[in-house]
Amino acid sequence: MPTYAKGLEGVIAADTKMSYIDGEQGVLEYVGIPIGELASHSTFEETVFLLWNLRLPRKGELESFTADLRSRYEVPAGFESKLLQMPRDARPMHVLRTLVSALSLHDTNPDANDLASLRSKALNILARTPTILAYYHRFRSGLPFVRPDPSLSIAENFLYMLNGRKPTPTMAKAMDVCLVLHADHGLNNSTFSARVVISTLSDMYSAIVAAIGSLKGPLHGGANEGVMVMLNEIPNLESVEKYVLDKLAKKDKIMGFGHRVYKAYDPRAAHLQSLAKQLAQDTGNADLYAKSKKIEDVMGQAVAAKGIYPNVDFYSATTYHCIGLPLDLFTPVFVIARIGGWAGHVIEQMSDNRLYRPTTDYTGPHAQAYVPMDKR
Ligand code: CMC
Repeated sequence: MPTYAKGLEGVIAADTKMSYIDGEQGVLEYVGIPIGELASHSTFEETVFLLWNLRLPRKGELESFTADLRSRYEVPAGFESKLLQMPRDARPMHVLRTLVSALSLHDTNPDANDLASLRSKALNILARTPTILAYYHRFRSGLPFVRPDPSLSIAENFLYMLNGRKPTPTMAKAMDVCLVLHADHGLNNSTFSARVVISTLSDMYSAIVAAIGSLKGPLHGGANEGVMVMLNEIPNLESVEKYVLDKLAKKDKIMGFGHRVYKAYDPRAAHLQSLAKQLAQDTGNADLYAKSKKIEDVMGQAVAAKGIYPNVDFYSATTYHCIGLPLDLFTPVFVIARIGGWAGHVIEQMSDNRLYRPTTDYTGPHAQAYVPMDKR
C-alpha cells in the first residue's frame, strides 16, 4: 500500500549532494560547508560554482566562471521591447515569471537538455534575471534603463542597475550575503516544483518558471514581503505585543516564523539577524530592527515551545529595507538567489532522472449514473 503524508511531510523524494539540513539541530550546509562559513567567507558567484560543481573552485576557475556569467548580463537583442509592454503597475513577481519565460523565445534551442546546454541556460537565466528585474523597476518608475556593468558582481550590478549608482561596499556585501544565504535549501517547494517539471524532460526555462510561481506564495518566498507588511502595520514598539498575540489568538500565521523542517533556530535567520541589526543602525532604521526583535521575543514567549522560530524570511525583510529595496522586490531578489539552487537541482535531476508521478487517494463516489442535463 502506498503511504500518504499530507504536504509530503517527511517524504524523501530525491537524492541531492547540494545542501544538507538538520532541522532538529538548526544546521544547513552547502556541499558539507556550514552556511555561516559561506556567509562569512564566500561570495554568491563562488557559492553557485560550489552548488553546480560540488566543490569550491580554484582561483582560475572562479575567475573564468565569473567572467562567463558577467558576459551574459545583457538581455538578448529585441528583448527590451517585451519589457516595455509590461503594465507599469504589475507585481514584479508576475513580471519576472513572464519575462524569464520569454527568455526561452530568444534561445535557438530552448529544449536542449544535455549537460552543456543546461549549464549554459542556467548561466543565462542567472545573469539576466537581475537585469530584467532592475529594468522593470526603472521602467515602472519612469526612469531610463541602466545597462549592466560587467566589471561588477551580481550583487553590485543589481543594485547599480536598480539605483543608477554603485552601491557602497557595505550595501554590496550585505546584498551578496543575502544571496549566499538564500541560494539553496534542500527539497523546498519551489525546488521540488523545478525537479517535477524537468523530470518530464521539459526544459530549463519551464522548470525555473514553475519554481518562480511556487516561490511567490506567502507560505514560501512571499513571506519576506508579508513580514515587511506586518512591520509597516505595527505603528510602534509598544503595539507589538498586542498585535502578535491578537493574531495568534485568531490562529493567524505570523509571517517569517515557522518551518516544515527546522524545529530549532534557522541558521540563516541567525546570520540575517546580526546583519539586519548592523544595517539598521547604519541606516537610521534602528526602530525597525527593534520592532522585529520585539516580535521575535513575543513569539518566543508564546510559541517557541512548539518549535516555531524565525525563518530566513523574517530578518531578510529588515535587511532588504535597509539596503533600500522596495517592498515588492523582496521576493524577486529571493528568486535571483534561488536560481542558483533551482538550476543546480535541474541538472542533478537530469543526471539520474525518473518521472515524478505520485498518486492520489481517491475519496469521491463510484459507479454514479450519468444524469442528463434536463434531469439535474
Ligand atoms: N505563526 C503562528 N503559528 C504558526 C506559524 C506561524 N508563522 N507557523 C506554524 N504555526 C503553528 C500552526 O498554527 C500549527 O499550530 P497547531 O498545531 O496548534 O495547529 C503548527 O505551528 C504547525 O503549523 P503548520 O502550518 O501545520 O506547519 P507546516 O509545516 O505545514 O508549515 C510553514 C510551515 C512555513 C508554512 C508555516 O510555519 C507558516 O505558514 N509560516 C508563515 C509563513 C512563512 O514564514 N513562510 C516562509 C517559510 S521559510 C522560507 C521559505 O521556504 O520560503
